[in-house]
Amino acid sequence: MLNETYTLANGLSIPKIGFGTWMIDDEKVADDFKNAIAVGYRHIDTAQAYANEVGVGKGVRDSGVAREDLFVTTKLAAEIKNYDQAVAAIEESLKKLDLGYIDLMIIHSPKPWAEFQNDQDRFFEGNLAAWKALEEAYEAGKIKAIGVSNFEEADLQNLLDHAEIKPMVNQVLAHIGHTPFDVIEFSQKHDILVEAYSPIAHGEMMSNPQITDMAAKYGVSIPQLAIRYCLQLNLLPLPKTESVDHMKNNADVAFDISDSDMAILKAINDFDYGVNSEIPVFKRASK
Ligand SMILES: NC(=O)c1ccc[n+]([C@@H]2O[C@H](COP(=O)([O-])OP(=O)(O)OC[C@H]3O[C@@H](n4cnc5c(N)ncnc54)[C@H](OP(=O)(O)O)[C@@H]3O)[C@@H](O)[C@H]2O)c1
Repeated sequence: MLNETYTLANGLSIPKIGFGTWMIDDEKVADDFKNAIAVGYRHIDTAQAYANEVGVGKGVRDSGVAREDLFVTTKLAAEIKNYDQAVAAIEESLKKLDLGYIDLMIIHSPKPWAEFQNDQDRFFEGNLAAWKALEEAYEAGKIKAIGVSNFEEADLQNLLDHAEIKPMVNQVLAHIGHTPFDVIEFSQKHDILVEAYSPIAHGEMMSNPQITDMAAKYGVSIPQLAIRYCLQLNLLPLPKTESVDHMKNNADVAFDISDSDMAILKAINDFDYGVNSEIPVFKRASK
């Protein structure tokens, strides 16, 4: 499964399962990614906000795998909504990662995190300004693909209507218990690959009884069921783990969830994020 790829609208191949790095320390992420590479992962997801781009770059450089065989995504900070700051921040990511180029760079959120629950201002102008900086870096060959994250239909439409280049990726919160079918369908209709972040609901899926029963039925772990669910919806899951056993488990997903069981899993929509409910992305999903 780790050597399978999707193809982005511009023809770029992207490995079907990525390695998430939110909350992995800069000092530790290089070793974790080296372990992941040994398991077979070839795709890593970082962000300016994770403060671990230096470590991710080191992990890639020290991996022993050719640069062109690895896929590195980073994200433009959600708070940056003007052109000059976006240009500077893109240059900073290029410098911190120190990999020659970035495979994919995405706007982390249409709204700064402090405004994430607020739908009054969607920052349309600011997103177009940040997007222009990404388009220019893409055209200069510094970034191989560009996209967005946490964009809803109106945010995507703003770019589709006014930008030169269409986003190639939309990375959204998507997992069993919270599958935003509207934005997934809208994105896929526009040839925008949808990536599923927090595919294991940031770890909270482990305590959901209905999902536990379904995993037992297939003789797989809950994360395996969760990752397979994403793949069967043509989503690109980004599981995060610091454990080598979990890295192997999360990649061992060559089984089929039946159509009837997919329908049951798709219908679960009352997810409780427990202790993580106050994190902006989970708080919004709980509204
Ligand atoms: N664009 C955005 O706004 C955004 C937001 C959130 C996340 N993301 C991206 O998506 C990635 C994944 O999301 P996430 O970090 O929220 O969490 P996640 O991948 O949904 O879940 C991670 C949790 O599940 C555990 N886990 C993973 N595999 C397991 C296994 N096989 N068995 C048992 N436990 C397992 C991990 O613990 P161990 O480490 O102990 O295995 C960790 O506690 C992030 O790292 C980030 O790259 C993006």
